[in-house]
Amino acid sequence: LHTAERAAADGIPVADVTAAGLTATPLQQAMDLARVHGPAFRRRLGDRETLFVSSLDLVTELADENRFAKGVSVVLENVREFAGDGLFTAYNDEPNWAKAHEVLMPAFALGSMRTYHPAMLKVARRVMASWDRRVADGSTLDVAEDMTRMTLDTIGLAGFGFDFGSFARDTPHPFVESMVRCLQWSGAKFAREAGVDYSAEDAAFRADADYLASVVDEVIAARTASGESGDDDLLGLMLGSRERGDGEQGLDLANIRNQVITFLIAGHETTSGALSFALYYLLKDPAALRLVQREADELWGDAPEPDPSFEDIARLPYTRQVLNEALRLWPTAAAFTRQAQEDILLGGRHPLKKGDLVTVLTPMLHRDPAWGDNPELFDPSRFTPQAEAARSPHAYKPFGTGERACIGRQFALHEATMLLALLVHRYRLIDHTDYRLRVKETLTLKPEGFTLALAARTPAD
Ligand code: HEM
Repeated sequence: LHTAERAAADGIPVADVTAAGLTATPLQQAMDLARVHGPAFRRRLGDRETLFVSSLDLVTELADENRFAKGVSVVLENVREFAGDGLFTAYNDEPNWAKAHEVLMPAFALGSMRTYHPAMLKVARRVMASWDRRVADGSTLDVAEDMTRMTLDTIGLAGFGFDFGSFARDTPHPFVESMVRCLQWSGAKFAREAGVDYSAEDAAFRADADYLASVVDEVIAARTASGESGDDDLLGLMLGSRERGDGEQGLDLANIRNQVITFLIAGHETTSGALSFALYYLLKDPAALRLVQREADELWGDAPEPDPSFEDIARLPYTRQVLNEALRLWPTAAAFTRQAQEDILLGGRHPLKKGDLVTVLTPMLHRDPAWGDNPELFDPSRFTPQAEAARSPHAYKPFGTGERACIGRQFALHEATMLLALLVHRYRLIDHTDYRLRVKETLTLKPEGFTLALAARTPAD
């Protein structure tokens, strides 16, 4: 169907964009288009169209699991080039999705966080040892880099018993650099122009993807060599599924490799952005900072080395609200795609064919009028239990929706809540550059060029 006719027939505006605009900050560009065209529009790039949706009423429909399911978008198709049929990128009807989901779900039940708590705390202490050195020598730090060190080490240790040792390095672990380039390749490939030779980009991508696979092999080999089962960590569960004589239930080795890569990426990249945005908003909002500090002070007093228990993390509700609110303004996995399971008239007027894909533009859903008159305002009180109860659950989707929603949500929130509280308890955050937020996109979102100076804090500060 010709796009102009289609726009006229279904009333959805079509916005033309160029490849140049897309490759730099496509997500923020889509947000701007939504501000101009409203909560449903098609972005046309060459002969490719993407339908973006961002209002509460339309997303409520898309969340109906009887009529829609996860869609593997063109970008996720590209991520499949290095994550294969791992949980994140698997098609709904791929048998390995259901198998792996069943094997791994127990590892993400709320109680399982108790198992990961010691590894999370161990890495939180690494952050603090590193920040203590900064306080002593007066150096500044790149927030997103340090949060990425923290979350990578945490998923490595908690999920796989593997130590990336990121705080012992001056530069990010090469896994992170290769991963970021692979994610960028996946995003940029979307905007390729006809007649251009991309073989150099593809060769560089292949080299990075091979390196990621070699790290996975190292992780698996380290476990096999240790002779330990790893009991109930992610790798232990997956390898165990092969050995317990479950026959059909066991995961094949190729799939386990895809899952390890998936978890190493999905398990750290977005959490690190969430923590970075939360620190940014606290830096700019002294009243909110004060409340987070007070909550941590009440738990840990002026103990120089607090020893947070698993139960303590549930006693930090305001800290959790701050993270929720940071993820409202900048959901770090900023879009997810739904696929129509039948012919549907979306919103009573936009015809969709079975199989059509619709992409939810989460940051704009999170700025829907349901959020009040000042959606750009950072306000953690939006997440008090009362405020949450009064709002539709579909107004807030940083972790996606339905059966294919984020499996690691509790993991991310436990890890991030603990670290954020520990950091504001121990340090004064100094805005030494009068930082203005710029959001960098590498498929996920992070503050760009955000650096902090630090000073030691006592609870009286
Ligand atoms: C799925 C966001 C942390 C593992 C998702 C999806 C979103 C998301 C939006 C759904 C994608 C879609 O519908 O296409 C986030 C955010 C996080 C986070 C914002 C941190 C703040 C984590 C962590 C892990 C993880 C810590 C692992 C430890 C996964 C996996 C899936 C997923 C495996 C695919 C689930 C499936 O389809 O079965 N995440 N995530 N995520 N996430 Fe997360």
